[in-house]
Amino acid sequence: EKDILNKLPLRGKKVLVTAGPTYEAIDPVRFIGNHSSGKMGFEIAKAAANLGAEVVLVSGPSHETVSSSLIKLIRVTSASQMYNEAHNYFNDVDIAVLSAAVADYRPKNVADQKIKKKEATFSIELEKTKDILASLGAIKTKQFLVGFALETNNELEHAKGKLKAKNLNLIVLNSLNDKGAGFGGSTNKVTFITNDDQIIAQELKSKTQVAEDLMNQILKQLNA
Ligand code: CTP
Ligand code: CA
Repeated sequence: EKDILNKLPLRGKKVLVTAGPTYEAIDPVRFIGNHSSGKMGFEIAKAAANLGAEVVLVSGPSHETVSSSLIKLIRVTSASQMYNEAHNYFNDVDIAVLSAAVADYRPKNVADQKIKKKEATFSIELEKTKDILASLGAIKTKQFLVGFALETNNELEHAKGKLKAKNLNLIVLNSLNDKGAGFGGSTNKVTFITNDDQIIAQELKSKTQVAEDLMNQILKQLNA
């Protein structure tokens, strides 16, 4: 009995995960997107389910799939759809991990018809999307909230700033300077930064292992 409880420390807990890129429509055939594969987020969902959690995974366009009956996968396309789904489930969850590479800007106007080529140059006016993570940080009550920070310079400073500004319990710093880190691949090199100022640098690992380490870090902070 005790053994089972130790192996499934998230049994009875609900976890929200966001994953993947978002696509922001320009016209019926074009969009603005990014190179996120969704792998990291899907691995986090699997790691949480393996610990017994009931998981809602809200993912932008990704080729990744899920097989666990503990994971409810909700596929979305745009930042605004991801915002709505995340808010639908947030009140109910104990832990939220927002790993999606959400577009910061989207076309201000979406053309109804395919845009025809004309002039030699062409601009699209963009407007900010809503920051899903910050919006959840602003309304959180019991939830343990985890964000990611993708940085290329002044990494620790920027990540700490996001941890504070978005009212997080933990941020996962993903430095694009590190070989083997970031988009597409199956490995990642991250640093965990906690809201009590612990900085835990990790080795280069598989995304599966990073996800397991992240869940262990969350459990550690929850049990502290
Ligand atoms: N995020 C989000 N909604 C957005 C933008 C970002 O939920 N509209 C989340 C990401 O999922 C990630 C965290 O915020 O967990 C940080 O994303 P990042 O792009 O590193 O930071 P930004 O706050 O968007 O700032 P910038 O891109 O300017 O560095
Ligand atoms: Ca961003």
